[in-house]
Amino acid sequence: MLDAGAGTGFLSLAARLGYQVSALDLSSEMLQRLRAKVAAESLEVEVIEGPADHVPTGEFDAVVERHLVWTLPDPAATLMTWRSAASTDRLILFESAWGSAAEPHEALKAWARTKLRRLRRIPPPHHFCSQ
Ligand SMILES: C[S@@+](CC[C@H](N)C(=O)[O-])C[C@H]1O[C@@H](n2cnc3c(N)ncnc32)[C@H](O)[C@@H]1O
Repeated sequence: MLDAGAGTGFLSLAARLGYQVSALDLSSEMLQRLRAKVAAESLEVEVIEGPADHVPTGEFDAVVERHLVWTLPDPAATLMTWRSAASTDRLILFESAWGSAAEPHEALKAWARTKLRRLRRIPPPHHFCSQ
């Protein structure tokens, strides 16, 4: 499977279950952390540095992503690229409704979490994607 916007490898660690994974991300720093996790568990994951719409050559059973699509300037174009270039019509997205797009009670919870984090001087989790 192709893990697009793999970051530090939350989904790529499906390699633990025997899946063959290619991890694609723009950020060399994120991929460095992914590599360290993979090495620590002696897993095999192909790591590719590049933009999400540059699909590496090969065939994939599925394209998976978590929390990437919301960052893309033209998500529809990227989804179409995945469909045509990854030789699969299986797409698994893990996204969420963020900020003002969220339900009011979710937005309130997010606001309270942010305030609490600031009070405790804890950096926002998406800055280090620690999982
Ligand atoms: C919020 S993190 C999510 C990382 C990982 N999927 C996870 O669930 O932990 C978003 C990731 O997408 C990467 N990214 C953002 N825009 C990208 C693009 N156009 N092409 C490839 N990766 C991108 C960032 O470098 C970052 O690692």
